[in-house]
Amino acid sequence: MSRLNDPAAVTREYATEVGLATRRSLYEGLEGEDMKELLAQAVLALRPSSVLEIGPGRGELGQRLVEAGVSDYRAVDISPRMVQLVRARGLSAQVADVQALPYGDGVIACVVAAWMLYHVPDLDRALAEIARVLEPGGSLVAVTNSEQHLRELWSLVGADRFELPFSAENGEATLLRHFAAVSARPVEAWLTLPDTDAARRYISASPSRAHLTTALPDLPGPLRVGSRTCLFIATRPQRAESAGSLGHIG
Ligand SMILES: C[S@@+](CC[C@H](N)C(=O)[O-])C[C@H]1O[C@@H](n2cnc3c(N)ncnc32)[C@H](O)[C@@H]1O
Repeated sequence: MSRLNDPAAVTREYATEVGLATRRSLYEGLEGEDMKELLAQAVLALRPSSVLEIGPGRGELGQRLVEAGVSDYRAVDISPRMVQLVRARGLSAQVADVQALPYGDGVIACVVAAWMLYHVPDLDRALAEIARVLEPGGSLVAVTNSEQHLRELWSLVGADRFELPFSAENGEATLLRHFAAVSARPVEAWLTLPDTDAARRYISASPSRAHLTTALPDLPGPLRVGSRTCLFIATRPQRAESAGSLGHIG
C-alpha cells in the first residue's frame, strides 16, 4: 500500500492517463450536482484575466474554460504525459511541481487545483507557492474529496474512511494558514456501480487502495455510492498591510 502523497507512487500513477480515465468513467451516470461543472462555473464567475491550472490531468477543464472565453489559460503538471495531453488540445502546458512554480510573484488572477492537493508531499509549501503567484485579491479554486467519499464501496473492503492530506473536512483550516478568506461548498451526488466487475475495476484503478480489490465480496446487485466532494475558494488579501505602512503622515 502507498500513501496518496508518496512522490514515487504519484509518478507511477500519472505516467499514463489509464487509471484516471478508468476512475472518471464511473462518474458518467452521476445523479445530482456535477462538481466538474460547478468548478468550471466557479472559475468563470470570477471573470479572471488569467488562469493557471495545476494538475490538469487530461485537460478537460482547460478546454471548457477556453471555449467559455478565458483567453489566458496555462497549466502545469508534474506528469509529462498529462502535459502532452493538455498540449494536444492546443492549450499551453509545462512540466512543473506545485511546490516550486515557475512564475514570478503576483502574476496570476486565478489558480485552479482540482483533486490534486492531496497528492502533494509538502502541502504548506505548495499553498505558499500558489499564494505567491496570485495577484493581490486573486483566488485559488480548489476541489477535493471528503473522507466519506464513496464510503458505501470502501466499507465493503474494510476501509471506512479516506485519510486525506487535503480533504473536505480539513481543507478550510489548511487554506486559512495561507489565505485571507475561504469559502467551502460541500456537494453530495450519487453514482451506481452496475455490478461487481465495475466496482473491482474502480478499486483496482485507485492509487493507494488497489490492493483491496480482491477483498470486495460479490455484490448481489448494483451498488449506489455517494460522491462527496467540496469546492473551496480561497482569496489572497488585496494588499499586505504592514505595521510600518500605518500612521506616518507628514
Ligand atoms: C487526480 S488527478 C486530477 C486531474 C484533473 N485535475 C481532474 O480533475 O481530472 C491529479 C493530477 O495532479 C498531478 N500532480 C500530482 N502531483 C503534482 C505536483 N506535485 N505538482 C503538479 N501536478 C501534480 C497529476 O500528475 C495529475 O495530473
